[in-house]
Amino acid sequence: MSTKASLETELAVVAGFNSPQVELEQYLTPPEIAAHIIHIADLQNDIGDRTVIDLGTGTGMLALGAAFRAPNQIIGIDRDRSALQIAKTNQSRVGIMTAIEWVLADVTQSFLCPQTTHGNDSVTVVMNPPFGAQHGQKHADRAFLTTAAQIADVSYSIHNSGSQSFIESFVADVGGTTTHAFEASFNLDRQYEFHAAESANIDTEVYRIEWTDTDRDE
Ligand SMILES: C[S@@+](CC[C@H](N)C(=O)[O-])C[C@H]1O[C@@H](n2cnc3c(N)ncnc32)[C@H](O)[C@@H]1O
Repeated sequence: MSTKASLETELAVVAGFNSPQVELEQYLTPPEIAAHIIHIADLQNDIGDRTVIDLGTGTGMLALGAAFRAPNQIIGIDRDRSALQIAKTNQSRVGIMTAIEWVLADVTQSFLCPQTTHGNDSVTVVMNPPFGAQHGQKHADRAFLTTAAQIADVSYSIHNSGSQSFIESFVADVGGTTTHAFEASFNLDRQYEFHAAESANIDTEVYRIEWTDTDRDE
């Protein structure tokens, strides 16, 4: 297994959104955060020999990170076609030969059912979902978690600071166990016209959740 530092270096070439859409909360997951999550997931045996699905893949950052750790299959899903074009270009930039399926879809729709080509694979979801911060839609990430619970055996997700009680009650209701949680802060460069400062510090929390969705197992 390569080091976390070398993974971060590989991911440093991933380009951001050309014209980020505020309503989709589009911003690049920083390479150090992506490398950290993928490295931990790999140490937990959640990447190799699995299907990895990146919900709201955007620039492809998390899917591309996973590609360096040899999963059986990788699927990146986003509802924005132009984001998927950037993800494809980023795939060339990082220079990995692993096949990645880039899928245009709304991950919050219940009909979502990604076709895994490795039928018996365990599924790991990685995601940095919209927080709902701009529109007062507190816990917009709930819909992403609902999808993760339906399709994944385990998920790694980034949430805004102060999400612990929401995550705990959601996981208790839906059926699962939060096994790991850690804080991650990063600097986000100015994205939108209404951002006053050149950069802002964003405090987030990352959760590893093991899902026990009974519908999926039937
Ligand atoms: C915070 S960005 C993270 C993107 C990605 N992880 C990256 O580092 O580039 C959230 C992403 O979710 C996507 N998104 C928002 N709502 C979505 C939905 N309902 N279905 C699919 N993708 C969605 C956005 O287009 C955006 O790319």
